[in-house]
Amino acid sequence: MAEVDIIFAVCFCLLLIIPGTLCAETPVVTTTLGKIVGERVNVDTGNGSGIVDRFRGIPYVKPPVGRLRFANPEPHPGWGDTVREAKQFGPHCPQLDSRLLPYVHLGKTITDIRRDEDCLFLNLYVPRGVDVLRARNESLAIIMYIHGGRFSAGSGASYNGDILALEGDVIVVSANYRLGFLGFFSTGTDEARGNYGLYDQHSAIKWVRENAEAFGGDPDRITLSGGSAGGASVDFQMISPLNRGLIQGGISASGTVLAPWSLARSLNYSLEQAKSAGCGMSKPQKMLRCLRSMDATLLAQQGIDWRPVIDGHFIPKDPRDLLRQNVTSGLRYMVGATSHDGSIYTLPFAGIPPTVARQLHLAKNYALGEYRFTTESAAIAFARSTITEYGLIQDPMDPLDLLTRATQQNTDFLFGMPAEESARLNEVGGATTYKYTLSVRYGYPLSYFPKAPSIRAEHFDTAIPFFGVFEEHPDVYSLTAEEMELNRAIRRYVANFAKNGDPNVGDPVTVQWPEYTASSRQFMNLDTPTTVETFDRERQYLFATEVLPAIVRVGKEADEARALSSKGKKCKKKGSKMGKSPRSKKD
Ligand SMILES: *[C@@H]1O[C@H](CO)[C@@H](O)[C@H](O)[C@H]1NC(C)=O
Ligand SMILES: *[C@@H]1O[C@H](CO)[C@@H](O)[C@H](O)[C@H]1NC(C)=O
Ligand SMILES: *[C@@H]1O[C@H](CO)[C@@H](O)[C@H](O)[C@H]1NC(C)=O
Ligand SMILES: *[C@@H]1O[C@H](CO)[C@@H](O)[C@H](O)[C@H]1NC(C)=O
Repeated sequence: MAEVDIIFAVCFCLLLIIPGTLCAETPVVTTTLGKIVGERVNVDTGNGSGIVDRFRGIPYVKPPVGRLRFANPEPHPGWGDTVREAKQFGPHCPQLDSRLLPYVHLGKTITDIRRDEDCLFLNLYVPRGVDVLRARNESLAIIMYIHGGRFSAGSGASYNGDILALEGDVIVVSANYRLGFLGFFSTGTDEARGNYGLYDQHSAIKWVRENAEAFGGDPDRITLSGGSAGGASVDFQMISPLNRGLIQGGISASGTVLAPWSLARSLNYSLEQAKSAGCGMSKPQKMLRCLRSMDATLLAQQGIDWRPVIDGHFIPKDPRDLLRQNVTSGLRYMVGATSHDGSIYTLPFAGIPPTVARQLHLAKNYALGEYRFTTESAAIAFARSTITEYGLIQDPMDPLDLLTRATQQNTDFLFGMPAEESARLNEVGGATTYKYTLSVRYGYPLSYFPKAPSIRAEHFDTAIPFFGVFEEHPDVYSLTAEEMELNRAIRRYVANFAKNGDPNVGDPVTVQWPEYTASSRQFMNLDTPTTVETFDRERQYLFATEVLPAIVRVGKEADEARALSSKGKKCKKKGSKMGKSPRSKKD
């Protein structure tokens, strides 16, 4: 088999025969911005080989610097008649030095790429060769991947698109978008609305649409995909009116717009961060002038909790309300989480003495930090009900039992139940919906945290079969035959979904993936072996989507009542006017 592959490679590439290396030919494409030259590589998928044309580091909008910092992206002027090299990734966007990064980038491909505020570049992976596709008038389906990393870290270079492109016979795209302070700061006024990172993603979608045909791609079959904050980004793009008619659908992995971490809770976060960066002016224009004069690298290290905001334009209103208005009707939607996404938050605490008091403390601190209750009793109610629901109530607990339960709770609350809710709302709203849980336990040694036996698939594991990370790096972890087959099956479902809007149509699949419906609630359990299962955790679903939000609502109401009554007292004392809101008073 290997010999056959190599002969195949010689025929195609003429000169160099080592798989994964450059071929003699250099593909040239004329884009709307000018000509680019990429590189042709021979790719070994572990199950065959072929060529992929890579185009990396294509600027898709003007550099977001100077007056364009904290502004929506503007069209790139292009590069005239010169041929632009597109062989290297563009710089990463300035970002947090995140502990997560070494874990995400198992592929070890991007650690040495520099960072620069001029970072809005995208990458394309075209199977079979652009010249071949063009000569045959082919138009391949396109999968555009949006990376994760808390809206504050990561890059389009995180994963290599070669294997998915070649095996799936689809064009794979990845893009950088602005992160953290530079991507999501908002004054809450027209001067700086926020969501620049989402506008960047949207501009990349438009660029891909306008240029799809030049690469042998089909502008009408663009499927978004992404993990974690990238999964939530997929949803944000799907519900935004700006993308109406531009995309076929999306694949949200381990992150949806309904997750409790997907939206900023108030503008205060931005304003507080501006203040602590030394730009606490009350007039938005002065604040922006100050922030635009700051060093981008320093700003990128400021704050760890940046998120999109409801800006009235890109996101016109609350995402749940948008979904209830059927804004995703007609789109194709695949959504899911891993069996143990929540271990990303529990494993770091696994060594800490496993007591009820400790659990209560962690849950209460989470609630205080997240919802900023001024009335502590709401946070206590949130914490007590949570640890009771998940049985974290015996003192002392068996450490492993505690880890298992706490991981389940975090997985449910932050990833699993938001995915279930998103499947329900999208399906009722008219999107053709497929749901999964990834449960496979890869035994790889590079997991960021030591793995407990009860923990199977972790937070970033979906990208592993999706991009064939271990097929590409057999030195890191050598897959079993079953795992290899599962990974190939996952890529087949994904490619079928992108090509035909249905994971079962196209390349033959062994297990039929039923559509998700509110009445059947069937989902695919992606494991060795893969099985179709029915969602039967309605109590935990209601706990995450009804009970905890109700506690939060009551807590916020108590806070508001308290704020009003103390303001009333103050106003009476000073005899000042009552009508003004705290913000207008501050300004
Ligand atoms: C390649 O995949 C096919 C279908 O999944 C399988 O039958 C075959 O054994 C695989 N070949 C290798 C070399 O892994
Ligand atoms: C490709 O499309 C063009 C324009 O539609 C047409 O002129 C040409 O004959 C087609 N070539 C093939 C091989 O189908
Ligand atoms: C925002 O901050 C101000 C002052 O720091 C405070 O009075 C107000 O309650 C905060 N609003 C929210 C929604 O947290
Ligand atoms: C959304 O679709 C559902 C199911 O088809 C329908 O009952 C509902 O009226 C629609 N809502 C809106 C706001 O169009």
